[in-house]
Amino acid sequence: MKAKVITAMISGACAAGLFMSAEAFAFDADEAQALAKKEGCLKCHAVDKKKEAKSLTEIAKSLNKKPDAETKLLHHLTSGEKVKFEDGKEEEHKIIKTKDKAAIKNMTDWILSLGK
Ligand code: HEC
Repeated sequence: MKAKVITAMISGACAAGLFMSAEAFAFDADEAQALAKKEGCLKCHAVDKKKEAKSLTEIAKSLNKKPDAETKLLHHLTSGEKVKFEDGKEEEHKIIKTKDKAAIKNMTDWILSLGK
């Protein structure tokens, strides 16, 4: 009896997992893109083509190769490290203004999903 309940729970979780993967991730892409726009990210980064800086898709692809992609991304958006532009000039990277952790997480999840 117990085993049956557990099996049911596991297959339920798997079904939920499949459903989730069809939806990709639990983020709101429209909201994420709106925040990226509001924060000015899209002035330098386009979603999928090179502008003044690499596309978010290209960035996400290389970040996803690293084990701690999310931490690296978050660090990048909050620390103002030096970055190099296409034309060779160096500048401190923009620091994200919002303090809304959920909104930031929604955006970083979205960015990383672009590189999957
Ligand atoms: C003034 C232009 C500018 C703005 C605004 C800007 N970036 Fe960047 N960003 C760059 C440049 C330049 C680089 C480094 C070189 C490249 O990617 O071409 C970079 C790099 C990055 C990286 C890669 C870090 C790595 O480890 O490779 C991420 C992620 C990133 N930006 C995200 C964002 C997000 C999200 C925003 C909005 C909060 C944003 N950027 C706003 C110019 C900008």
